[in-house]
Amino acid sequence: MDAQGWDDRYQDSELVWSATPNLFVAQYLSGRTPGMAVDLGAGEGRNAVWLATQGWDVTAVDFSAAGLAKARSMAFEAQVELATVVSDVDHYHPTTPVDLVLLSYLQVPDEHQRRILRRAAEWLQPGGAVFVVAHDKANVDNGHGGPPDPDVCYTVENTVAALSELRIEVAELAQRPVDGAVALDTVVLAVRD
Ligand SMILES: C[S@@+](CC[C@H](N)C(=O)[O-])C[C@H]1O[C@@H](n2cnc3c(N)ncnc32)[C@H](O)[C@@H]1O
Repeated sequence: MDAQGWDDRYQDSELVWSATPNLFVAQYLSGRTPGMAVDLGAGEGRNAVWLATQGWDVTAVDFSAAGLAKARSMAFEAQVELATVVSDVDHYHPTTPVDLVLLSYLQVPDEHQRRILRRAAEWLQPGGAVFVVAHDKANVDNGHGGPPDPDVCYTVENTVAALSELRIEVAELAQRPVDGAVALDTVVLAVRD
């Protein structure tokens, strides 16, 4: 879906996603020492705002201005600072090295995933991490919710391969309970030593 499609989807005042962070974002990132973070495809900001409440200095990037307007409202409600950048992830580049790059359900095709993951790895300072949570390709036939197009879903194998210059701390096909069913997510945490 393009930026206009996402803008249309975010038009209503109600949230498309939740106000609370993704299960695995909270599980795997709550223990990490806060620093500079970039949330690529941040949408309405549930993860970016949660990271900010944990002490992170967060930049939320998304090509949907409507999504980021909702993210700013969410940050205001939570009384935290949040920088927002309306941009295609392909055109964004942080001005300084960062401690965390988060991709949460950034639905782009395989080759695009590889490209952005390789770039994200280059942005890290030592000790920094890339965290990916995304609909796994297996979710299309065996999971729940998520896009029906496997090409914009991920696999653990492809994600780990794209982040091969980093040390892999977590790489799993994770089960996420949702609406009384189970969704299948790729979850990868990779660290620059
Ligand atoms: C499924 S939503 C996930 C939002 C958020 N990360 C979350 O987990 O709640 C995908 C988001 O990625 C954004 N997006 C998709 N492709 C993008 C691109 N090429 N550049 C910037 N943002 C993009 C969309 O606008 C949308 O907000």
